[in-house]
Amino acid sequence: MAHQLDGFSKLTRNQRLEALEKLGLLGQEDVARLRDGETPPLDLAEHFIENVIGYFAIPLGVAPHFRIDDRDYVIPMAVEETSIVAAASHTAKWIRNCGDIKTETLGELIIGQIQLAHVTNPAAMVAAIEQAKSDLIRRANEVVPGLVSRGGGVRELSVRVLARPDGDGSMVVIHVLADAKDAMGANLINQVCEGLREPVEAITRAKVNMCILSNLVDTKLTRAIIRIRNIEPSLGRGIAEASLFAQVDPYRAATNNKGVLNGIDAVVLATGNDWRAVEAGVHAYAARGGRYVSITRWFMHERDLVGELIAPIAVGTVGGMTRLHPTARTCLKMLGVSSASELARICAAVGLVQNLGALKALSTVGIVEGHMKLHTTNLALAAGAGQHEIAEMKSRLERILKTQRRVTLTEAVAALEGLRREKGVADVQPFGP
Ligand code: MEV
Repeated sequence: MAHQLDGFSKLTRNQRLEALEKLGLLGQEDVARLRDGETPPLDLAEHFIENVIGYFAIPLGVAPHFRIDDRDYVIPMAVEETSIVAAASHTAKWIRNCGDIKTETLGELIIGQIQLAHVTNPAAMVAAIEQAKSDLIRRANEVVPGLVSRGGGVRELSVRVLARPDGDGSMVVIHVLADAKDAMGANLINQVCEGLREPVEAITRAKVNMCILSNLVDTKLTRAIIRIRNIEPSLGRGIAEASLFAQVDPYRAATNNKGVLNGIDAVVLATGNDWRAVEAGVHAYAARGGRYVSITRWFMHERDLVGELIAPIAVGTVGGMTRLHPTARTCLKMLGVSSASELARICAAVGLVQNLGALKALSTVGIVEGHMKLHTTNLALAAGAGQHEIAEMKSRLERILKTQRRVTLTEAVAALEGLRREKGVADVQPFGP
């Protein structure tokens, strides 16, 4: 598959769709819908949210060249920022030629929380819950018979005692640990925890204040490792230094992790998953030691550059929008994933690849040049250019870039004025502020 997608970025949009269809990654219906830029029916939107007035579309691109755990993938990415898809694709090609990507899942249980807010004798309460544990697990599984029949269900309960910040005794929190199989599991675990409210109140003779899942799913982590063999030593050192920076400085760690999430979120969104849940989990995990740090690290091992990402990436291949939104369905089909954990491993790999692309650029030429080059179309459009003027505008803006390494909207407007003067057309009106 790899070679069949060489030169993918040079193809027209129709040729790209044809190439993906030829590889069996898209069906005829998918191609027709994507080609026409069709949005799903508005009735479906009414099903998802309230007070619907329309759809908000963002671009969907694909990053070919990914080889993860010795399998080829074409990665669907829904994202609005210039250069993310190009960087992912370009970096994936580099890794394919000079290294590899390996992934694994660490743990399989998601977490639900039941809060008992005000407890005067926490030790007695913990003992009572521990004693009733197997009965509570049985009752919990009765709430989700479908999940149990698919091989999932509640596996464990644990109890935590937290000091109240107001100094007024303790708070007791029950963690309900469940295997949600291929669902992200938010609805399932919320139902389970709500279902346990009464039995827990009966056992503890205390009032349950609230029940909800936790997005800090440190019981189900995903790990990706990238190795670039025989990397040019100064390039490897530069990337490792950039990574050290993100490990010691929260200001840098935030931007580093944003770059990782550029990749992860784009896949999470394309597959109809909840990117806010993933964001919350990743950031909370990055701060688990009491200080916000990078979720990736890169280091030299002999002559190789090695990178690692470990993070909670809670996604599903069933439930939520995944199967209802036609484009999400198409994207899942394109990935050909057989489980939620495979999808999470792909997300982790894309995040780490995206991070490598950013650190490589930042520690060498900087990102302005590459970003600007891809940004020239946006600038031309923002200056008010019509479709028929884009190609000429791009080449004019690229000439400016070549000499001064950056180009502004003011210069784009001036370039468009120049172009129209030459063609005898007047009136340039840039979009936006
Ligand atoms: C921009 O969207 C992402 C970067 O800032 C990430 C990084 O700094 O590592 C380039």
